[in-house]
Amino acid sequence: MSGEFAGKVVLVTGGGGGIGRGTALAFAKAGAKVAIAEIAEAGGNKTMEMIGRAGGNAMFIKTDVTDAKAVEAMVAKTVQTWGHLDIAFNNAGIEEEHMRLADCPESTFDRVIGINVKGVWLCMKYELAQMLKQGGGSIVNTASIAGLNGAAKMAAYSASKHAVIGLTKSAAIEYARKNIRVNAVCPAVIRTEMYERALAADPGIGPRVLNMHPVGRIGEVEEVAAAVLWLSSAGASFVTGFPLAVDGGTTAL
Ligand SMILES: NC(=O)c1ccc[n+]([C@@H]2O[C@H](COP(=O)([O-])OP(=O)(O)OC[C@H]3O[C@@H](n4cnc5c(N)ncnc54)[C@H](O)[C@@H]3O)[C@@H](O)[C@H]2O)c1
Repeated sequence: MSGEFAGKVVLVTGGGGGIGRGTALAFAKAGAKVAIAEIAEAGGNKTMEMIGRAGGNAMFIKTDVTDAKAVEAMVAKTVQTWGHLDIAFNNAGIEEEHMRLADCPESTFDRVIGINVKGVWLCMKYELAQMLKQGGGSIVNTASIAGLNGAAKMAAYSASKHAVIGLTKSAAIEYARKNIRVNAVCPAVIRTEMYERALAADPGIGPRVLNMHPVGRIGEVEEVAAAVLWLSSAGASFVTGFPLAVDGGTTAL
């Protein structure tokens, strides 16, 4: 396929739904070959089929981002198949049930930190090793506006996303002279399965989130994808270590 990312190899974690699927589709439409790393087989296969139907090139690699061996194999499979890894979008993540910190079970805290923080760290560890070998690359991690500000009743989630920004900034500094850029996107509320689950648990969230965004609406996955593609593009060659809010003005309040 022709396009801005023709010839590029892109890896998207959590590509079986929501923001990951939307971004995988956007990269494929822009000409990239896309490896979809995802724990949920049905979702991963569906994204791969959607890209195939649109005339793009994709493969699904079943991956749990908390499993070091699986993450190492995910990068190895991508490189064995297509020769290199130019861009990685570390996006797999989970929400937590809304509750105050003192009510949050230890197991919930461990699960949120395990997937959202250790998962991103593990992915970066193996992606950076490959990018160093080949002489460059670009990484974008999915944080959240909850990584920039506190989030009531989501302390573990907010802590996990602050940590993603810490990993992003630190790696950006470490690898800046190795032709590797590392950035993050910080979405506000985006219409995905994650949002639908929150709405099902508390229908009152609907009107509240509209008011939370100065633009008066929630975001769409395509709007996050556009930011990820820009951060990954040659146009962002002097941008590294930056957590980019994609939030309809929410953090300007
Ligand atoms: N939707 C929002 O409002 C919103 C806002 C800010 C940040 N985010 C972040 O964006 C990212 C994507 O969220 P989404 O809304 O698309 O969610 P989603 O639940 O729709 O999609 C997340 C995907 O990640 C996959 N996944 C979960 N655990 C995994 C694991 N251990 N290994 C591999 N894949 C795994 C899921 O199966 C799913 O396909 C997350 O990091 C989330 O925290 C979402």
